[in-house]
Amino acid sequence: MSFSAQILDGRLVADNLLSKLSEDVKFLKTQNLQLKLSIILVGNNPASISYISQKRKACEKIGIIDDQINLPATTSENELLQKINELNNDRSVHGILVQLPLPKHINEAKIIEAIDHKKDVDGFHPYNVGKMFLNKDFENLSPCTPKGIIKILEFYNIDLVGKEVTIVGRSNIVGKPLSAMLINRSATVTVCHSKTKNLKFHTARADILIAAIGKAKFITTSMVKKEAIVIDVGVNRVNDTNSEKSYKLVGDTDFENLLTKISAITPVPGGCGPMTVACLMENTVKAAYQIKNLS
Ligand code: GUN
Repeated sequence: MSFSAQILDGRLVADNLLSKLSEDVKFLKTQNLQLKLSIILVGNNPASISYISQKRKACEKIGIIDDQINLPATTSENELLQKINELNNDRSVHGILVQLPLPKHINEAKIIEAIDHKKDVDGFHPYNVGKMFLNKDFENLSPCTPKGIIKILEFYNIDLVGKEVTIVGRSNIVGKPLSAMLINRSATVTVCHSKTKNLKFHTARADILIAAIGKAKFITTSMVKKEAIVIDVGVNRVNDTNSEKSYKLVGDTDFENLLTKISAITPVPGGCGPMTVACLMENTVKAAYQIKNLS
């Protein structure tokens, strides 16, 4: 009988969290508080459109008003800053999310810093990032994908203390903040990136391997340790003539071939994606409680 890895079901963990959050949203309604999340899309990047549609569906599911603001790709940095300022001052808005990436002529860091950190449900503002780096107790509005990964590991009782964790990818959205959150939980963390020498050396010794690269099936069987736990953060579109949409989504790992060697893995879709969205909902509820001093 051939061995097959356990599938870490992100959708299941996400649905559990969403049901709990819908109770919070109901409670807040009894306090005359209707939650609202404003999502800004600049331009029409197809991946961004798809991510936003998932975020809005989750809002609808748990009773948060989803307010999508579409701005043309030609929007100037000042126009976007003005819009953010308006939302910062709008008392009916509890969360503000600017979908990334932004067009090249707009400075992302400047935009993120302009968002009121109390409404920064992405957890990207330097104030929230700084707090997260201090220690676990200071984590508050922390980035959604790392937060979702930690919750999946917790749900499946995967211990982090003293574990060798290798993250491939150093983005501000996943790799960097996740490294801090894992250190806060006493893992030994290695962060690899496109300039890393001998990547395989680092991936093959990981008890837990996190792939956040953005390249389809990049992590192959020879790169992983036997019985490792693999978290696949990748969402890559590859051509698929059998699919209605003409593409299908695959992760950053060679999923099918890894299954006989490793002990557990998150699927794509159905792993980190739904958890990112659920954690965004959690941050929105949290932001509202904190803005209203209800916690
Ligand atoms: N682009 C890719 N992931 C994210 C995310 O989590 N938040 C935002 N705002 N943009 C993204």
